[in-house]
Amino acid sequence: MCGIFAYIGPKTNAPKIVIEGLKKLEYRGYDSWGVAYKTTDDIVINKKVGKIEEMKEGPWTKAKSSLAMGHSRWATHGGVTEKNAHPQATENRDIVLVHNGIFENYLEVKKQLQKKGHKFISQTDTEVIAHLIEEYGKKFSFEESVKSAIKKIEGRYAIVVLKKNENKIMTARKGSPLIIGVGTPKNEYFIASDIPAFLKYTNKVIYLDDDQMAVIGEKSIKFLDIKKDKEIKKRIIKIDWNVESSEKGDFPHFMIKEITEQKDTLTKAINQDPEIIEKVAQAIKNAYGVYLVGCGTAGKVGMVGEYLFAEIAKKHVNFAFGSEFGNYKDFLTKKTLMICISQSGETADTLEAIETAKKKGVKIVSIVNVESSTMARISDMVIPIKAGPEKAVASTKATTSQIAILTLLAYACDGGVKIGKQLLITTASQINDMLNPRYGEHIMKIAKKIKNVESMYIIGRGKNYPIALESAIKLQEVSYIHAEGFAGGELKHGPIALISKNTPVIALVANDENKKDVLSNATEVKARGGYIIGVSPEKEEVFDFWIRVPDTGSTSPIVNIIPIQILAYQLAVLRKNDPDKPRNLAKSVTVK
Ligand code: M6R
Repeated sequence: MCGIFAYIGPKTNAPKIVIEGLKKLEYRGYDSWGVAYKTTDDIVINKKVGKIEEMKEGPWTKAKSSLAMGHSRWATHGGVTEKNAHPQATENRDIVLVHNGIFENYLEVKKQLQKKGHKFISQTDTEVIAHLIEEYGKKFSFEESVKSAIKKIEGRYAIVVLKKNENKIMTARKGSPLIIGVGTPKNEYFIASDIPAFLKYTNKVIYLDDDQMAVIGEKSIKFLDIKKDKEIKKRIIKIDWNVESSEKGDFPHFMIKEITEQKDTLTKAINQDPEIIEKVAQAIKNAYGVYLVGCGTAGKVGMVGEYLFAEIAKKHVNFAFGSEFGNYKDFLTKKTLMICISQSGETADTLEAIETAKKKGVKIVSIVNVESSTMARISDMVIPIKAGPEKAVASTKATTSQIAILTLLAYACDGGVKIGKQLLITTASQINDMLNPRYGEHIMKIAKKIKNVESMYIIGRGKNYPIALESAIKLQEVSYIHAEGFAGGELKHGPIALISKNTPVIALVANDENKKDVLSNATEVKARGGYIIGVSPEKEEVFDFWIRVPDTGSTSPIVNIIPIQILAYQLAVLRKNDPDKPRNLAKSVTVK
């Protein structure tokens, strides 16, 4: 959701570098974009509504400059217009700024500035920050005025600021991602919302923490702690992501690339530092109240976790969506443990849940993919899932890796981490068969049959009930077909009224204690004309179409979601949707 990219260094094609960097951030979701670059005595700004890829070689890409910044905007304050796109600037472009996040008290500050004569042309909160910096600039230096403006901002933000007469970049963050890439030539820096955007140039990074600011000049860089008002030192960290891991390679889309990577990503997730798994398992056992918290797909993974802990560790844990977690605040104490699940580690609702929990002294564990994320940085313990960059909006490989970690934790709580690990290793090797083209061709037969249906349903029981819900999310977000997941037992309490002749119903039938009951639910659906697509290790009489999955016991949620991910991808392609960038969605939802 919104992307920032900026460059300062010896290269003279900064605008082009910035546009390329923004393209790499497209997966985050956006509806308009813009670039600003410094000339000898001015800052040139260009903004557009629409896709960056529509950008042809032209004056912007050819402009010569060594200092530029860009932004891809996902509208929150103000509609999708060029005026509201970033960069935002003061009247004479003295201060130019890009911003992610939400400036919560902007209306109040805007009124104060209007009284002082400031005129605003956009509806954005971002423009208010530019004017605020300009106002402070009447008394202070560029650095001081940015710092003073930041101190007035309530909410989360990541900003990059340019000033007309300064060859410097000021950048700061709080609760919104921002990473500095350190280039190979001396004094070259990239600033971006995510590492893959500059991975082509460098794998050396500096992570800014909350309330920290960097002042980057042509020949110098310094870091400040905004709250303590003092200079600080920051470490350069070398990361082991490579360019290939964040590119599509020979695959037509990131989504299918990421689905196909799951054998490897699962193996990486399982190969955790045993110490951290044991430490978290101990914390779960010692806690008085454990909450699994996440949003969207990560939330469904949390729900799977609730079942896994019950089944494997005989332990009751609670699940809550990030946006609902606040309702449990009265039950939180210093003995509570919160386990947050997130691919990006930047989801605003989950971050807010953490804030609520921290106020009550709750210990936080996060299971995240982006190790540099805000969530990872504010947690007491972190289990990295190590899935590598996930760029398709629809989460696939991160999902199965998160389930694998929860499975491992559940086994560890029962003293059987080795058994859990072995089971997961076997599962990883078995899913290999599901990731070959023949398996995809089989699923394509059903994709072609159902590609024009209006609605479809998914049923599951036990730990495969949340997988039915997750299947619905996958199908909704990329195929745009109305899809809903139900607990098999709930059908006859209402949803079965939706079934008519040939309504596709996917039944997730694991070889476990729920098998008989979910098959019976499928039979009830079939009796009302439903078309049953069975996802199961064995072919059952009630199935009209069978998708075979390996029989893996407790890891059935992992193997059951993979064919649905493939089906969702195929439906998206058949229906001519972009599976990587579905309409109205952003990869990481950084606003409430
Ligand atoms: O980055 P997170 O895992 O915290 O994201 C949470 C959800 O926004 C995310 O899972 C979303 O539901 C995906 N688009 C689902 O595919």
